[in-house]
Amino acid sequence: MKKRVKINLSAFLSLALAVMITACGSGQDDHIKTDSAGDSAGSVSGTTVIGFSQLGAESDWRSANSESMRTAFSTDNGYELLFEDGQQKQSKQITAIRSFIQQGVDYIVLAPVTQDGWDSVLQEAQEADIPVIIVDRMVETADEDLFTCWIGSDFYLEGCKACEWLRKYAASQGLSGADLHIVNIQGTIGSSAQIGRTAGLEEYSEKYGWDLREETPGDFTQAKGREVMTQMLVNYNNINVVYCENDNEALGAIEAIEAAGKHPGGDIKNGDILVLSFDGVNETAINYCLEGTIACIVECNPLHGPRVENIIQTLKRGGTPDKLEYVSETLYSSYEAVKDVRIDSRDYPVTLLTQEVIDTRAY
Ligand code: AHR
Repeated sequence: MKKRVKINLSAFLSLALAVMITACGSGQDDHIKTDSAGDSAGSVSGTTVIGFSQLGAESDWRSANSESMRTAFSTDNGYELLFEDGQQKQSKQITAIRSFIQQGVDYIVLAPVTQDGWDSVLQEAQEADIPVIIVDRMVETADEDLFTCWIGSDFYLEGCKACEWLRKYAASQGLSGADLHIVNIQGTIGSSAQIGRTAGLEEYSEKYGWDLREETPGDFTQAKGREVMTQMLVNYNNINVVYCENDNEALGAIEAIEAAGKHPGGDIKNGDILVLSFDGVNETAINYCLEGTIACIVECNPLHGPRVENIIQTLKRGGTPDKLEYVSETLYSSYEAVKDVRIDSRDYPVTLLTQEVIDTRAY
């Protein structure tokens, strides 16, 4: 269905040409998109045009997320996906959104690199009457009406799950809170994934007297994870827990631990460094979890493509999607000591990781 077409001269000529081709019986695709000089990408009929501003390609989680979006919004499914990689820069994402507005797309999907600073561009989308769906990380806006809805993970809950797992595991080993000497390799500062996971760790550290030695950003990448952990191991000789805010950082941290002649694992009393992580997407990381090198991975589910597509279908039918939709996620560990974690009176079972579990996962 036609939503909007902004017509300038070149768009008008393109439109006329398309009508002529269709009239001659040779047109297959009834979606009108101008050439590079044109400014109209909005659908005329059939094809729905989605402008997706992805924040970057920093991790395996991100690659799986991009793939999920590309699959859901394929041509075969009746979409044209305009995919823009923001390369971790908010300014690039804002430019992409402005270009989507200019092209008159039907829907904008934004995976924001950080939480703040989106009000003006969201206002522009609202004035152009283009619904904006936020996916994965959250935005902080002065007015919640500036975006249509959000779908993603509860990152604070993820952090609490990892910490509650650690609390119970330490207790099972006869360790007190003061015995835990922790470093945190944080994600991209200002992203809701970092903010939520860091907040969980800081709260638990405060509450249970954990020795939280240092928190330094690792940008969700393996290279930075290794670099940061290498320095942390130089700075402190008693680290026994590393809290990595994603799997790629954990892989880098493990390289650093082994290069320093130490052992990643769960036998803290005998000198192991316990590795905690998030995501569960990277194959090496999930296999490390199976063999106990990573003690626990809190799942962060990247498969948002079909979820966003559902939202768009709801909007197309004139429905109202939930303003905020949290996806449900588990925790993985091959250590049997912790069967579940309780947060705010709710129990979350730990998925005991086996080869069979790995083989039946969707990613
Ligand atoms: O926002 C989700 C986080 O971003 C994932 O945990 C991380 O791997 C990614 O880069």
